[in-house]
Amino acid sequence: MNFSRSREFEKRLQEIIPGGAHTYAKGADQFPELSPGVIARGSGSHVWDVDGNEFIEYGMGLRAVTLGHAYPPVVAAVRESLELGTNFTRPAAIELECAERFLEIIDGAEMVKFTKDGSTADTAALRLARAYTGRDMVAICAEHPFFSYDDWFFCTTTMDGGIPEVNYPLTVRFHYNKPDSLRALFDAHPGRIAAVFMEPARTEEPADGFLHKVQALCRQNGAVLIFDEMITGFRWHLGGAQKVYGVVPDMSTFGKAVANGFSLSILCGHRDILRLGSRERDEDNVFLLSTTHGAEIPSLAAAIRTMEIYRREPVIEHLYRQGERLAAGFRAAIAHHHLEGYLDVVGRPCNLLFGTRGPDKRPSQAYRSLFLQETIRRGVLMPSLVVSYSHSDADIDQTLAAVDGALAIYARALEDGAEKYLVGRPSRPVFDRR
Ligand SMILES: Cc1ncc(COP(=O)(O)O)c(C=O)c1O
Repeated sequence: MNFSRSREFEKRLQEIIPGGAHTYAKGADQFPELSPGVIARGSGSHVWDVDGNEFIEYGMGLRAVTLGHAYPPVVAAVRESLELGTNFTRPAAIELECAERFLEIIDGAEMVKFTKDGSTADTAALRLARAYTGRDMVAICAEHPFFSYDDWFFCTTTMDGGIPEVNYPLTVRFHYNKPDSLRALFDAHPGRIAAVFMEPARTEEPADGFLHKVQALCRQNGAVLIFDEMITGFRWHLGGAQKVYGVVPDMSTFGKAVANGFSLSILCGHRDILRLGSRERDEDNVFLLSTTHGAEIPSLAAAIRTMEIYRREPVIEHLYRQGERLAAGFRAAIAHHHLEGYLDVVGRPCNLLFGTRGPDKRPSQAYRSLFLQETIRRGVLMPSLVVSYSHSDADIDQTLAAVDGALAIYARALEDGAEKYLVGRPSRPVFDRR
């Protein structure tokens, strides 16, 4: 495979865009050198890079594209909307339609506000919780890797340059499936914690009624429960993971898949909290998500069409089915190459990840890079194992053949060293300080 145009583009990207991309996870340092650095176009489950190489892909726009790239019915809805204009002086009729369609889907959500990315929706949820409770602290789940690029979250990461000290004591962390760790925070900071922030689940399922226990602790201690459904929404279930686990949070945030990759994220929740952002009350108002592009029409058209497709067609079932096939085949390949303990597949079938370990059985970027390099060579781009409604049986079969070939090299590299097979430097984690 030739990646020469990719390398040229990448060089220029690095020069004029910090990080070389608009999401660090897409950056050049996340992938091996022998990889498609820049994508020219996508269709369904396939993408083509700027050198003309074709790949089946399993990143799907950081999990935003659940139906498929350039999914024709969504593209048609957006195209029709473009003829009507994109932004007016007063609300557009489609804002009401999109809000109503969305609230039909999410149990317990009575009001909704649109914005453009998940980070701003999450920060707005926290602002509301603070205003509602009159408190300043937030408890976040330590095992959940990303909520917002804002200071309240990034002060907990290793990439915390530029964040004022005042933020650090206000964000505290509890552990998933350990209700006592949350109880301890409430005990240590009585009357201070405004909100508990978490994804309902990630790779670990809630055990022993954990989410119900979290909700009970929030109620006992007067804190607002916020579920971040950026990943789980429209993937675990159309009604979000909250529907699967039977826990209705006070607020939740959605994004990513809601508009099949068009830029829309959504804050929703109980009226008594969200109405703090309205303007017909006697109390002080909260300035809540007032943005120029918040209700930009093409994204709302994409969301409405995406929701229609989910309601009409077995999208979620397909994600689970293809994920199950992928996981089973991947695990069989691991067993076939005697690589148990060196690679594993984790998560729900609709949202799988894989782990790579070196000879010492510790997580290894060099072995991750080697695996990516060898699957890329075989026509598959799989930084994770995220399937879409467009991933066909043939895609999965071809992918499993690529995984099998890559694992044969991986097994040899465990004997001889990854450097013998990996071209160039290994990739780096996103949260890398230096
Ligand atoms: C769980 C979760 N919450 C929030 C966000 C932030 O969303 P955005 O990148 O749209 O700001 C992400 C992004 O990856 C996420 O995975």
